[in-house]
Amino acid sequence: MKYARITGTGSYLPPTALSNNDLVARGVDTSDEWVVERTGIRSRHIADETQAASDLALEASRAAIASAGITAEKIDLIILATSTPDYIFPSTACLLQSKLGVRGAAAFDVQAVCSGFAYAITVAEKFIRSGSHRCALVVGTEVFSRILDWNDRGTCVLFGDGAGAVILEASDTPGILASALHADGSYNEILAVPGNVCGGRIIGSPFLQMDGQAVFKFAVKVLADVAKEALDQAGVKPEEIDWLIPHQANIRIIQATAKKLGMPMEKVITTVEHHGNTSAASIPLALDAAVRDGRIKRGDTLLLEGVGGGFTWGAVLLKF
Ligand code: UT7
Repeated sequence: MKYARITGTGSYLPPTALSNNDLVARGVDTSDEWVVERTGIRSRHIADETQAASDLALEASRAAIASAGITAEKIDLIILATSTPDYIFPSTACLLQSKLGVRGAAAFDVQAVCSGFAYAITVAEKFIRSGSHRCALVVGTEVFSRILDWNDRGTCVLFGDGAGAVILEASDTPGILASALHADGSYNEILAVPGNVCGGRIIGSPFLQMDGQAVFKFAVKVLADVAKEALDQAGVKPEEIDWLIPHQANIRIIQATAKKLGMPMEKVITTVEHHGNTSAASIPLALDAAVRDGRIKRGDTLLLEGVGGGFTWGAVLLKF
């Protein structure tokens, strides 16, 4: 088995959707016009108080397992990307495993913020290509609404909750063709939740803080560079990509990246309008949406790419 290939996808959005006008009605000092013009976001889903990241992950995972036509018992590796875990420990991957009702598979979390899914699927691919594991469940799940300061209009309008999952299996037919991951920790302060728990108190801040313009500039530069790096590794040209599935943070970042790659927006999957930025969940959510509505077909060449806090960034090129 030479390759690791996606054999199923799934996703889940909490039922409550809040429009920009709903946020205004709840007292956020913003307007639908500002948010749509600057970000492309019209609404986002928000988990209710009873739903944790592992609950969203469970629904997405069940859908991915069903779409792959397997049972959860077949999974021998669970890698879950999140920055909003249920607990400090155990990992959300272990809680998900318990909720799936299975035991024994290796399970751990990956923390790379909005690049989390690109990191997680790349790690899973290495396990499968090494021959040590054959069937991975790779999940991105977030409840970012829990770490938003609803008085900070510069950040609270941008994010939403959700989960996406894929099953990645050993295969003789090509799957993941190339991947590139990077980080530059010297940029840790431009996007952070700079708090921790110590002696029963929160030290620092439990809320997301961001220098929006610095993040914007950084994202546009590194997303185009890392996409080219993954393409060069595999000897694939941008025009050979059927679908670009970028992290869904801001439609203007997505448009700028597509332009740099010379890709028309017709070949770019976007969900940011209705999901907002769901961090590690955004790529698998967009992937699953486009698989289920029939745009993405077996054999298509896909380029996934993410960028987020750390700073971290990465791209994954694959045959679906
Ligand atoms: O996964 C990565 C996560 N983060 C991102 O991708 C974010 C990247 N950055 C961005 O998307 C943009 O920088 C934002 C959408 C966050 C902000 O857009 P901007 O064009 O950079 O606006 P700005 O921060 O320069 O603010 C412009 C004005 C300011 O008012 P003044 O000082 O010009 O009077 C802000 O106070 O817009 C104001 N503003 C708002 N007004 C209405 C900021 N947030 C809002 C808001 N509603 N929600």
